[in-house]
Amino acid sequence: MLATRLFVAPIGRQSYRIAPRAAGTLSLHNKRFFASQSDRVAKFDGVRDANGNYPVSLIEGDGIGPEISQAVKDIFAAAKAPITWEPVDVGPILKDGQTAIPDDAIASIKKNKIALKGPLATPIGKGHVSLNLTLRRTFNLFANLRPCRSVAGYKTPYDNVDTVLIRENTEGEYSGIEHVVVDGVVQSIKLITREASERVLRYAFQHAQAIGRKKVRVVHKATIMKMSDGLFLNVGREVAKDYPDIEFDAELLDNTCLKMVTDPIPYNDKVLVMPNLYGDILSDMCAGLIGGLGLTPSGNIGDECSIFEAVHGSAPDIAGKALANPTALLFSSLMMLRHMGLNEYADKIEKATFDTLSEGKALTGDLGGTAKTHEYTASIISKI
Ligand code: IPM
Ligand code: MN
Repeated sequence: MLATRLFVAPIGRQSYRIAPRAAGTLSLHNKRFFASQSDRVAKFDGVRDANGNYPVSLIEGDGIGPEISQAVKDIFAAAKAPITWEPVDVGPILKDGQTAIPDDAIASIKKNKIALKGPLATPIGKGHVSLNLTLRRTFNLFANLRPCRSVAGYKTPYDNVDTVLIRENTEGEYSGIEHVVVDGVVQSIKLITREASERVLRYAFQHAQAIGRKKVRVVHKATIMKMSDGLFLNVGREVAKDYPDIEFDAELLDNTCLKMVTDPIPYNDKVLVMPNLYGDILSDMCAGLIGGLGLTPSGNIGDECSIFEAVHGSAPDIAGKALANPTALLFSSLMMLRHMGLNEYADKIEKATFDTLSEGKALTGDLGGTAKTHEYTASIISKI
């Protein structure tokens, strides 16, 4: 039992007031946070500059970050994508003993409403939490979109995998609320709110509609976490009523894992949506099905802005040697272009990239080739 009845959780700049007794048993007639189905979540409304380009904040990141960012910049220039890059430095700084993003970076991302981000190493030291998490919290990026699609020509145990996973991105097991009860006993709070659940679930239905999928599935463990996952699942059932064209169902997380590694193909027609930690783990598993994190994009989606990022690490051991594979950042940037409504540029670059990968002549070392980063990039550019 929690010691306090009313609890204020420090997530981002907002606080949730929670009566712990109630969460899973709330009536379905409780307040909804959206007025109607027509409310579009996370709509991009950036503004073009005088040259007709959208300014995009670019966080190159650490380690191999600058090299893979250069590859994306070169490819975008060749495709004449209407983007002006605005480089930003995200720190890290400590504000009141907590990791924070420098004000200039916050201002740039808020102004442009869109950012692309390379890998960031988490600094080691007292007070520092992951910068990745700090960014998600600072900008309230509530949905994390992680598709995994097989790359033709790059052989893995499965062909034609095409999964779409959406992870709640601000709370759940990542709330960071932990404390020692007595020596040898700690508690970690998994925070689930109706508000955050509803917005990520609504985004999942709307994304399914946007990409032409007819099924949304909640992945959960409400048999055990009856209140927290129970709330997430119930909100899913409720939101589903606003999207009668989409079939809704649910599956237990462990069963999803078993079925996906046995045969991932039945998941190709669905959008999966789930609480934070489940999405973290399951998205890495899906990446494994298609060849790893070097090939998978990720988008952190919010109402005010969105940040697209490569999920892999900063690989300091190969930094500066032109050995890095820029594909994950490139695919993330294509997801970004589509989020901005610039689909034709995304399609063009995507085709050139898939052609380069399936041709197999200019692959980086991690994909079994010997090409340098710029040689792989040049091959993509030659096909645009
Ligand atoms: C991811 C990463 C992050 C997470 C880490 C770097 C904090 O694993 O984006 O999946 O756990 O969310
Ligand atoms: Mn992860």
